[in-house]
Amino acid sequence: MEKKKIKVITYGTFDLFHQGHYRLLQRAKQLGDYLIVGITTEGYDKTRGKLGVVDSIMTRIENVKKTGFADEIIIEDSPGQKFSDVKKYNIDIFTVGSDWTGQFDYLKDYCKVVYLERTKDISSTMLREQKQHIQRIGIIGTGRIAGRFVPEAKLVSGVSTQGVYNPHKESALKFAEEWDINAYTDKEEFYRDIDVAYIASPHETHYEYIKEALAHGKHVICEKPLVLQRKQAEEVFAEAKEKGLLLFEGIKTAYCPGFQKLLGIACSGIIGTIRNVEACFTKLESPTSRELTDRRFGGSFRELGSYVMLPILKLYGTEYKKIEFDSIRDENGLDLFTRVSLRYATGIATATCGLGVKSEGRLLISGTLGYIIVEAPWWKTSYFEVHYEDAGRVDKYSEIFLGDGLRYEISDFVALLNHHEKNAFKLTRGESIALSGIMERFAEGEQLAKC
Ligand code: CTP
Repeated sequence: MEKKKIKVITYGTFDLFHQGHYRLLQRAKQLGDYLIVGITTEGYDKTRGKLGVVDSIMTRIENVKKTGFADEIIIEDSPGQKFSDVKKYNIDIFTVGSDWTGQFDYLKDYCKVVYLERTKDISSTMLREQKQHIQRIGIIGTGRIAGRFVPEAKLVSGVSTQGVYNPHKESALKFAEEWDINAYTDKEEFYRDIDVAYIASPHETHYEYIKEALAHGKHVICEKPLVLQRKQAEEVFAEAKEKGLLLFEGIKTAYCPGFQKLLGIACSGIIGTIRNVEACFTKLESPTSRELTDRRFGGSFRELGSYVMLPILKLYGTEYKKIEFDSIRDENGLDLFTRVSLRYATGIATATCGLGVKSEGRLLISGTLGYIIVEAPWWKTSYFEVHYEDAGRVDKYSEIFLGDGLRYEISDFVALLNHHEKNAFKLTRGESIALSGIMERFAEGEQLAKC
């Protein structure tokens, strides 16, 4: 009787194929007679937080093929797949490197699980770092968002946080100590030590800091809103272009995979022509917070307006026919709640934000064939539904959103720096300029209200 073939399966990304991968595949093959190798898709790697993979899936497949060890190559696209593959392919042995020890013991009821010793001193991460010049990021400002940025940046290969600048020495030192980075109060020294300035200072200081960073030859990631006037936005983008530097507005929603998926579905025609978009984001801030005490540059629209305007600009574009603001203000004229109404050639939109009023923060996109609903926090898009006239039909979509989500924006920034222009569509210069123009229109109305 013919002896049963022992089937072995292993999985990996196999980015920048190296000796560790080769040895793993060689030993995996020796465990049996037939080796299946599962190679991750780009999308799956992103959802499990493996950002910055360099090789395309075709290259990674080619490299595994070249070793001659794989009898069959499959694609790994989701977390539950290993379990179903083991049964589907009638696997006898599941194997991976010892960095995963214990993590796949749940498969032991179905096959043998072998953890092969990992080859020392080599990894794709290491090679990625050697290949790229590590971009040293310097943070300007020490507010809440800066504190969220540091741990997220740690997860993205190709960047490291060099330090923080704050003209107030105490704040710089406190922040630097908390995050174990350098504190700078001397600007020249700060610019000398960095490649990228991450501007997370109060809104009204963005324009000057952007100009200063560009003048020092540094790339810029700037928190939203980029600047508060259209002309300023045009000027800083032109300056960056002239100097060959990257100026990038950080609206995290724009870069998160779930929001990208949502835009894809909304524009696919599945809900027909879009006729109405409603986006709402509210927070109850402490009355002593900067947002509610800064009489000139605080208020709900400067704080949250970029988020609520984003889906509208992405879905309808920047050429609105009419824009109107309506705000509820406190005794100092600061907007606690603002509604923006926009008219486009083919539809209408409403963006609502509040710092002193709580509402249901959702995103609703209505079309001629159905509607998409995303509940709060839609700005960290991870789940949405498509509804139709037939109430019994609901399409449900989900996508992972990891941590604070800034990792997606930082990883896209690095990709753009490495001239992967394919990511530039996520938030275009034109959209950033339009957003600054909308901030300016809002301020004009505010001036009138304060008079
Ligand atoms: N592997 C190994 N020895 C190494 C590196 C990887 O045995 N030095 C194994 C892993 O344990 C895994 C397979 O090779 O079973 C594919 O690993 P992959 O995650 O693609 O490679 P890494 O180099 O670990 O990638 P990264 O640095 O991106 O985590």
